[in-house]
Amino acid sequence: MDQVMTRKPHEMLAATLSQELEAVNALIRTRMASEHAPRIPEVTAHLVEAGGKRLRPMLTLAAARLCGYEGDHHLKLAATVEFIHTATLLHDDVVDESAQRRGRPTANLLWDNKSSVLVGDYLFARSFQLMVETGSLRVLDILANASATIAEGEVLQMTAASNLKTDEGIYLQVVRGKTAALFSAATEVGGVIAGAPEAQVKALFEYGDALGIAFQIADDLLDYQGDSKATGKNVGDDFRERKLTLPVIKAVAHATDEERAFWTRTIEKGKQQDGDLEEALALMAKYGTLEATRQDALGWAAKARAALEVLPDHEIRTMLSDLADYVVARLN
Ligand code: IPE
Ligand code: IPE
Ligand code: MG
Ligand code: MG
Repeated sequence: MDQVMTRKPHEMLAATLSQELEAVNALIRTRMASEHAPRIPEVTAHLVEAGGKRLRPMLTLAAARLCGYEGDHHLKLAATVEFIHTATLLHDDVVDESAQRRGRPTANLLWDNKSSVLVGDYLFARSFQLMVETGSLRVLDILANASATIAEGEVLQMTAASNLKTDEGIYLQVVRGKTAALFSAATEVGGVIAGAPEAQVKALFEYGDALGIAFQIADDLLDYQGDSKATGKNVGDDFRERKLTLPVIKAVAHATDEERAFWTRTIEKGKQQDGDLEEALALMAKYGTLEATRQDALGWAAKARAALEVLPDHEIRTMLSDLADYVVARLN
């Protein structure tokens, strides 16, 4: 009993959806295989077997079930969504030159960039095959749009990331694109496949959008505040990669001339030296930007919760509501 009560919301969802989630995992394993190129299963198994929270496929399963769906196309959609996610992670770790993912060395480190890019492409293509099997053009439309929006967000981030002129508006656009687009597509297609009324489909989209934004803001905070054992990623990566995320954008907005020179050197010019990360953290503490960022994340979580109001009263709705709090609370 105790154990049930202390379960985290995504674990509660996973337990409630365990049978379907297992079917999704089986589907993922079958479809990530390749008859002709052994490198593909090597790379995909490395990443897929490392786990990951399976948040996005759970969102699809939860949305479909919440809307009373009784078929099995939602399993394919959930697998599609996780494939798109995995493909973007492979590409993202190349772009970010990251060394750690899901507590393991990244594929780009273990193999090389070429393998990550090409296997990522393969997974994208596999995801399209899966969603076509549902026969729903509307679902195809939503997931194709989300895939384009994710890529757009990553490209916008690439060009805006080291530019001190990047403001909170651009940051929001990046985050909505690279992260929230897949969350909102994941929830929306669950409602669509269930044939839910438009007001519910819209609410599911809005929930996913706000949850995704809260999630990414939290992720950006954890990059400065997290414990790499818990996150499976290195602390300070964003700073070393010269990425202007919300805590830094807020600090730059308050900066004195001298502090601005520090941000110009470290982020814009990328001339970093020992002690710079500590200095960056001190400036963020000076202006309370980590706390302000946390408040923003909480605001988006509240928005996500509010969107759920028009959905059926159901234990899954409560779990989705708790999940919104949890994506931010993991920072406390
Ligand atoms: C990582 O997402 C990518 C971001 C959007 C920050 P997750 O934290 O959901 O990754 P896994 O799937 O659990 O590893
Ligand atoms: C995650 O973005 C990748 C996508 C959402 C496409 P980040 O680069 O911010 O996340 P991590 O820290 O590598 O997981
Ligand atoms: Mg990254
Ligand atoms: Mg990135």
